[in-house]
Amino acid sequence: MSSLAAVEASNASFAPSYVPVAVIVGGTSGVGQAMAEALAHQTNGRARIVIIGRNGRAAARIIAGFPKPKDEEEVKHEFVQCDASSMKSVRAVCDDLLVRLKRINFLVITAGGPAANSLVESTVTSEGLDAHLAMRYFMRYLFTKSLLPLLVRAQELGQHAHVMSVLGAGHGVTIATTDLGLHKARSRSFRLLKGVVPSIAALKGMIRGVAYNDGLVAHFASKHPQLTFTHIHPGQVLTEGGSDMWIGWLLAPLGWVLGYVKRWISLTQDDRAKYMLYALLSPDPTQGGLYIRGEYGDVVSSHVFDADFDPASTSTTADKYGVLHGVPLKGYGGSDASVKGLVEYTEGVLAEVLG
Ligand SMILES: NC(=O)c1ccc[n+]([C@@H]2O[C@H](COP(=O)([O-])OP(=O)(O)OC[C@H]3O[C@@H](n4cnc5c(N)ncnc54)[C@H](OP(=O)(O)O)[C@@H]3O)[C@@H](O)[C@H]2O)c1
Repeated sequence: MSSLAAVEASNASFAPSYVPVAVIVGGTSGVGQAMAEALAHQTNGRARIVIIGRNGRAAARIIAGFPKPKDEEEVKHEFVQCDASSMKSVRAVCDDLLVRLKRINFLVITAGGPAANSLVESTVTSEGLDAHLAMRYFMRYLFTKSLLPLLVRAQELGQHAHVMSVLGAGHGVTIATTDLGLHKARSRSFRLLKGVVPSIAALKGMIRGVAYNDGLVAHFASKHPQLTFTHIHPGQVLTEGGSDMWIGWLLAPLGWVLGYVKRWISLTQDDRAKYMLYALLSPDPTQGGLYIRGEYGDVVSSHVFDADFDPASTSTTADKYGVLHGVPLKGYGGSDASVKGLVEYTEGVLAEVLG
């Protein structure tokens, strides 16, 4: 684990010759807000920061607090409204950004959604997706896939090109191979106990989101070995979205105790953002690769991909969990076969939703 002093020193050394462009999905509060503010201050306002979320008033307040650079024209910050639980909205926002931005250096996805702590009910979005998976996985996949051309452009200019998903990395939760969309799990939920005890389907949605994010970064990193992809766990953080712990009436006292304990073990969002920023800025931009990182930005495992990799060469390990292209990775929950299955499933779902 890096000390806070080392992390601060590393962040302070970030002084790119270009104006970095950062898109932060979930930058209107919590970890995303604190990361946007930390980046703005680190660069003395000389970064173009695009905040994506629903709360425009919060975004305006946050952007107004950024340091003002001299060349304001070049670094116009902005808020882009998007309900990220809707894949159609995500696609529309990405289409717009693809036209207006010339490159993206940092794509940071932190939005956990209002359902982040709702463990008592498993719902579906208006597009038919599991609500937990929509925010924890599908929108992250779609933002990443859609905005990749802008990251590739940044990398081709010799600049940082890094996608970071802030969720729950490092636990090695395995990627499921059946009922990927949790339709069966939801159909088996006990309706009579709705709101009283945690819903198994909702619990699965939260846990699987974590595993699927390992698959997300592994898939895109292997397709784009020159870019950097990170799945990181922010640990416990005192944020609006991460503060309530509602696990149903029956277990409410346990929820209160857990909420109390959480307040003791959590960092503020500003302190946590320093570690997240360290993980975002520190990788060598010329190398690319995949990083699984923990709450202090520490590398749990990493892998640099060989552009000439032949999948047939590791066919014997394709079903082994925690192994990526024949290489064991600590804290990684995928196998080559499960990632392939997940991506095929995801592409099918998105094609159905987006038409
Ligand atoms: N806090 C913790 O202790 C903790 C622990 C473990 C893991 N995590 C994970 O780490 C990540 C960051 O944590 P956090 O506590 O900062 O998350 P959070 O409170 O869930 O994130 C808040 C941000 O998400 C945005 N958001 C929520 N629903 C949205 C929607 N439907 N469309 C667009 N934006 C939406 C909010 O924007 P608007 O309100 O403007 O829509 C806000 O910017 C999350 O993925 C969380 O699950 C957090």
